[in-house]
Amino acid sequence: MKSPEDMEEVMETCVQRFVVANWKMHGSWQFCDVLLGCFSDFAFDPTVEIVIAPPAVYLARMKNAIAQSNMRIGLSAQNCTSADSIPVTGELSARMLKEVGAKYVLVGHSERRILHSESSKIVGMKANEALRSRLVPIICVGQNGRRIDKDALTKQCRESMPINSHDFIIAYEPVYAIGTGVVPSKDEIAEALSVVKAAVGDAVPVLYGGSVSPVNCSEILSVEGLGGVLVGGASLDPASFLRICEIANLPV
Ligand code: PGA
Repeated sequence: MKSPEDMEEVMETCVQRFVVANWKMHGSWQFCDVLLGCFSDFAFDPTVEIVIAPPAVYLARMKNAIAQSNMRIGLSAQNCTSADSIPVTGELSARMLKEVGAKYVLVGHSERRILHSESSKIVGMKANEALRSRLVPIICVGQNGRRIDKDALTKQCRESMPINSHDFIIAYEPVYAIGTGVVPSKDEIAEALSVVKAAVGDAVPVLYGGSVSPVNCSEILSVEGLGGVLVGGASLDPASFLRICEIANLPV
């Protein structure tokens, strides 16, 4: 499968870290403007890719605002369908999300796996469809409890990844850490990272997500080989998200 031109661009610019903001079902037109306003004086570093995943209805507005500024911010959708132009009421395809300004799309977030019964096979199909529409999939994986079951995590990664492509990103998000303030230790993140890398390939960027905050982010980013962070709750507080991006800008 051909790489999305955006992935080629990501690789060309030697991105070493990603900071992805997952707004989930939060935000408003006003919040889009406030958040982007906070970045007007930010010193963007070409090795750090800042990505915002607002609800899809705000993508076009944010795309316009970013295009009119010098901000180096990529946009991500939070979900897509596994096919295009099919009779499914209320869904959005990867092609449509690309058209309104997304460069990335989150697939397989645990909230969708749990609330919408999305299996890893469906997540893999969505990742394939994202690539077909030239979006870079950010594939979320992670176990429910604290213990890392190597075989289960390997299986989840392999089933969720696209076929014949390494142009994707993995976000390792243990479910117990999402929105709880409980964060795995550096050793636990490193252990998960090595299992995920063994399953998907060393070149695929692997991010950590789950209660990332300005307080713990520097320690999390010090895990060797980690490709960045996926931030939920803390990305809804502009000062906290800005601080996380500043910390990510510091040398590895
Ligand atoms: P959190 O969410 O940072 O609020 O834990 C992360 C996520 O669900 O992507």
